[in-house]
Amino acid sequence: MDHYAVFGNPIAHSKSPQIHGWFAEQTGQQMDYRAILAPEDDFEGSARQFFDAGGLGANVTVPFKLDALVFSDQLSPRARRAGAVNTLQKGKNGEIYGDNTDGIGLVRDLSDNLGFNLRGKRVLLLGAGGASRGVIEPLLKAGIARLKIANRTPEKAQQLVQIFHGLQPDAELSAGNWASLNASQYDLILNATSASLSGDLPPLPDGLLAAGALAYDLMYARQATPFMRWAEAQGAAQVADGLGMLVEQAAEAFFLWRQVRPQTSGVLQRLREQLM
Ligand code: ATR
Repeated sequence: MDHYAVFGNPIAHSKSPQIHGWFAEQTGQQMDYRAILAPEDDFEGSARQFFDAGGLGANVTVPFKLDALVFSDQLSPRARRAGAVNTLQKGKNGEIYGDNTDGIGLVRDLSDNLGFNLRGKRVLLLGAGGASRGVIEPLLKAGIARLKIANRTPEKAQQLVQIFHGLQPDAELSAGNWASLNASQYDLILNATSASLSGDLPPLPDGLLAAGALAYDLMYARQATPFMRWAEAQGAAQVADGLGMLVEQAAEAFFLWRQVRPQTSGVLQRLREQLM
């Protein structure tokens, strides 16, 4: 049996074992996948133990994505630019390869599950932490026209612009604080702040959403998040949470490990039903 795992702290509520279990069943892969609670100050010890005991691959979630980057012997270019690793794989000589599938997971959810074509779109990204940094590259590569990054601490948004400008020269990148958001409209607004966790919402002005706009929260919860409720009240054409992104990033990791691409729509539907 091939062994896989997800590392996090906390980890008990992780959906990943369920998702990968369904993927394995669907594709006939002989593998097991379990959740591992790593001590907050010793991701390395916990991950080392898993791989030494024969583990082949792992997902990494909060708060260890930076530790996983440091732990990796080799990094994919997208993981390096994201500044975080959410997927680990053991190579033939025992070396650990670090990748990041979060951003591509978001883009696949937008395009394949929600039918949102990113090409030429004006995008507003709220937040400038790890979650934001992880999704910028694939958004730019999907051909968006404009990306504004807004954050409570605008200097952090500016730093992200510095990192990613030049990656897609045709795309216009800018940064600012909440007050800088007046008088512009967007086709897609992504909430990547952790404000939802505390039931907060950044102070967003009215009128940000263009006709037909999609509002997307990278978080998911049983109920609509404060950001999703705000978007509905603002008349967003479409509102979504991040459950699809979770399933799609998992599918990318599964593909990296097993070279088989699982079907995600049924899995997403089952997960949604479970959450209700
Ligand atoms: P993550 O990995 O989830 O992105 P993070 O790196 O700690 O976590 O980043 C959290 C993001 O949410 C940051 O953009 C943070 O803003 P600051 O950079 O100003 O700290 C944002 N954030 C957290 N709580 C917030 C709140 N109550 N209102 C607005 N923004 C908030």
